[in-house]
Amino acid sequence: MARTGTSIGVDISTGSVKVAEVNITRAEPVLNKLGIIMLPEGVVRDGEIEDPASIAGYLKELWKTNRFSRRKVILGVSNQKVIVRSMDLPYMAEEELDSAVRYQVQEFIPIPIEDAIIDFEVVDEFMTGEEERMQTVLLAAAHREMIQNFVDALLGAGLNPVAVELKAFAMTRSLLKREYQFLEEEGEAPGSVCLINIGSGISNICVVKEQTPRFVRMLMRGGDYFTKLLSDKLKLSPVDAEEIKQGRSTDKEANALLQREIQAFVGEIRRSLEFYISQTQERDLKKVIISGSGSRIINLPLELNRALRLPIEIGHPLQNVQLGKLPYTPEELAEMEASIAVCVGLALRDLEE
Ligand SMILES: Nc1ncnc2c1ncn2[C@@H]1O[C@H](COP(=O)(O)OP(=O)(O)OP(=O)(O)O)[C@@H](O)[C@H]1O
Ligand SMILES: [Mg+2]
Repeated sequence: MARTGTSIGVDISTGSVKVAEVNITRAEPVLNKLGIIMLPEGVVRDGEIEDPASIAGYLKELWKTNRFSRRKVILGVSNQKVIVRSMDLPYMAEEELDSAVRYQVQEFIPIPIEDAIIDFEVVDEFMTGEEERMQTVLLAAAHREMIQNFVDALLGAGLNPVAVELKAFAMTRSLLKREYQFLEEEGEAPGSVCLINIGSGISNICVVKEQTPRFVRMLMRGGDYFTKLLSDKLKLSPVDAEEIKQGRSTDKEANALLQREIQAFVGEIRRSLEFYISQTQERDLKKVIISGSGSRIINLPLELNRALRLPIEIGHPLQNVQLGKLPYTPEELAEMEASIAVCVGLALRDLEE
């Protein structure tokens, strides 16, 4: 049964902090509040908070302007200090699994276990050639200190983090259609879907099979990489570089440079997916859903389509919610939609409990 009540998702990203408040009292959740505040460069770097006190200030301002109704929040994280791996273990009862995972985890992660926060989920079961029953566990391990900076920022703003989740997991709730997420057995076998959120500094990749995230990759590159490259190499202002990314320039050299870099970037995404396929032997990827404002870069969907040979769909993170009384015009909301997959997905987390 779905829980009812109000739930708030906080996405502290490179270029902005995004917060969504969802009310889950009716059949369909209602997005009652949505706030975004831009961040200056350097406050969040590579998905990590450099200065918790400064982020606390931005959060306070967001709460003041948007009048969010709760102080309890669900926080998203994505950076190099979170490691996600899948591992195969002999089948065992849930009670034993926790200590077994903890026992085995050290060989999978480059963080001393006492400095890590561990979370895991069983994503598959199978039999070996020797008829041994096995299970696949998707494991996430995060540096305690990195998480503490986020927690300090929230506490500094008088907020109370009730859960922390990988951004890659959160976005599955907003980018996959809900009917699809809960497809019953008699429905058509949906196959796997690859979700890709491209932000300013980070790209989150998540492959979902039968409603369960099976593979996560975080690439430390996003839209800002292209801005910086164009402005460095061609001695352009960041504003001019943005114009090129939006396809508004006729400068041949600039467009060609951008094209090459996009191809290199989608190559990186392709190699991530090839790794997933080689690891799991899963070949049922049906489509790719893209999101994040960085994904709006000119020709990126086309190049992704070429490199992955899969249909590319533009994600609609508002598809699973009704819209409450939001202070935005439809045009403004449409513009915001690309960048809110994570905060909306975080707010929808309680729906599953
Ligand atoms: N119309 C557009 N065309 C191309 N790029 C765009 C467009 N609008 C925004 N961007 C780029 O999108 C990026 C911002 O996206 P987004 O808001 O999703 O990132 P973020 O959440 O702040 O960062 P991250 O998730 O990586 O920490 C910037 O690099 C910006 O230049
Ligand atoms: Mg983001």
